[in-house]
Amino acid sequence: MHVTVVASALPTVKLEKKTPSKANILVIAAFQGEEGLELPGTALLGSSELKATLQALSSVGAKGKPGEITRIPAPKGVNAESVVAVGLGNPEKLDDEALRRAAGSVARALVGQKHVATTISDFGLAAAVEGLILGGYSTRGIRSTEADADEAPVKITVVSKEDKEVFEAAVIGAEAVAFARTLTNTPSNELYPASYAKYLKEQGTKAGLEVEVLDEKELKKQGFGGILSVGQGSARAPRLVRLSWSPKKAKKSVALVGKGITFDTGGISIKPGAGMWDMISDMGGSAAVAGATIAAAKLEIPVKVTAFLPLAENMPSGEATRPGDVITHYGGLTSEVLNTDAEGRLVLADAIARACEDNPDYLIETATLTGAQMVALGSRTAGVMGSEDFRDRVAEIGRAVGENAWAVPLLEEHDEEIKSKAADIRNINAKREGGMQFAGTYLAQFVTDDVQWAHIDVAGPSWNGGAARGYTTPRATGVPARTIIAALQDIAAEKDS
Ligand code: BES
Ligand code: MN
Ligand code: ZN
Repeated sequence: MHVTVVASALPTVKLEKKTPSKANILVIAAFQGEEGLELPGTALLGSSELKATLQALSSVGAKGKPGEITRIPAPKGVNAESVVAVGLGNPEKLDDEALRRAAGSVARALVGQKHVATTISDFGLAAAVEGLILGGYSTRGIRSTEADADEAPVKITVVSKEDKEVFEAAVIGAEAVAFARTLTNTPSNELYPASYAKYLKEQGTKAGLEVEVLDEKELKKQGFGGILSVGQGSARAPRLVRLSWSPKKAKKSVALVGKGITFDTGGISIKPGAGMWDMISDMGGSAAVAGATIAAAKLEIPVKVTAFLPLAENMPSGEATRPGDVITHYGGLTSEVLNTDAEGRLVLADAIARACEDNPDYLIETATLTGAQMVALGSRTAGVMGSEDFRDRVAEIGRAVGENAWAVPLLEEHDEEIKSKAADIRNINAKREGGMQFAGTYLAQFVTDDVQWAHIDVAGPSWNGGAARGYTTPRATGVPARTIIAALQDIAAEKDS
C-alpha cells in the first residue's frame, strides 16, 4: 500500500535584501499609466538602465496591461541576460489579487529558466510570493519519461528589505495549496482511502500534528454508518482521519471537516461516463483541509484545530448501498438514501456529528458537494452556507485572499422537503431548485446549535478544467486552503469577548 502521488514541482523562492549577482533574468513591474507604459523604480536597475528599459519595452509595444509579459535583452550595463516586465495594469486599481495573478502569469512563463530576480514584491510581498509559487506549480502526472530541462522548476530570488516573517508565511500558505493540488491531481487507483490515510499520517506526523486513523472495523464499532454506507460498494474500505494541532496558547477551538471521496462514480445511481474521470477530484475538500491544518502547525497559529477527513470510494457493486436504503449516522440520526450519488453529505454528516461532539467554537467544512453550486455561482466562486455571521465572515475572507466565495442562504422550503417517510431525513429533495442549499440544510441537521458553522461548496472552484490563468494552473486548484488558513488566523486574532 504505497501511494505514488503525481510528480509535481514548485519554483524555489528565496528572499534576499540585495540583487543576486547570478540571476540571468530580472523581472520588474510595469504599469499602464494614463500616458502609456510606466516603470516604477526598482532595486534591480539604476536610473539610466531603467530609462533604457522603458524605451526598449515601449518600442516592442509593451503597455503594462494586467498579466502582460514582455521580455527584452538586458540593456547595456545590466548584469543579466534579459529583463522581463510584468504588467500590473492601472496603478490605482492594483490590489493583492491583481498582483498575485500577474506574479502567477510570470512564474508560468519562466518555468525552465535558470535564476530569476524580481522586485514585483515592492507592491505586496505576500501576494507576490503566493502568485510566484502557485503559478510556478507544475505537474506532469505519472509518466515513463523524465522531465525535460525546459520543465525544470525555476529559482526565484525576491529582492526585498521587508520582514522575513511575511515572506515565510506566504511560502507556507502556498505550499499548503500545492499539497492539496498534488493530492487532488493524483488518480484514484493510487489514492484510495487506505493509501490516502497512510500518506496523511506520514505528512501530518512530520508537520507535528497528532494523527488518528479509524479503519473500517473501528468505524463499524463506533457507528459511522454514513461513511460505511458510501464505502461499502468498493473493494477499498473507507477511513476516518483526524488531524490535530493543539497549541498550548490556544483560546479558541476550530473543527475542520473535508469531503474525501477518492472517486465518485455515483454508486448505484451511477453517473454518465463522459467527464466521470474528473471525479478523481472529489476529495479536494479533504486535501485543502489537510493542507491548511499542516500550515496551521507550521505557522504556529494559536488556535486548536481538529480536522476530520472522511475518506471513501463511491462505487456500484453487489455490496453497494441501494436507493431506498436507510442508514444510521454517527450519533444516531437516520437517513433515507434516495440517490447514492448524493454521497458527500452522507460521509460529512458522520464527520460533522463527530466534530461537534468536542464542542468546538467554530466548524469550517468544505466539499466538492453539488453540481448545483456551479449552476448557481459558476465554476470560480464557492458557495458559503451556515451560521449567518460566520458564513458572511468566511465568504468575505475567501474574497480577501482571492479565492472567490459568496454567502448563500439556506432555504426555508427545504425544512419541509428534507422530511422522509422512512427515516429521520432523506438525502435528496424532490425538486431540482436550490440543490446546493438543500445539501446545506441536510448538513445543518448534524451541526449542534452552539457551534459557529460555515460550509464551503467548492464543486467548481476546486478544479480548473480549462487552461492556466494567473496563478491558477490546470486541474486541481487547491481551493479553499488559503481561505481556511486565513479564517484560522482571523479567529486567532479575535479579542476576548
Ligand atoms: N461530487 C459530486 C458533485 C460534483 C459534481 C462535484 C461535479 C464536482 C463536479 C456529488 O457527489 C454529486 O454527485 N452530487 C449530485 C447530488 C444530486 C444527486 C442531488 C449532483 O450534484 O448531481
Ligand atoms: Mn456524487
Ligand atoms: Zn461526490
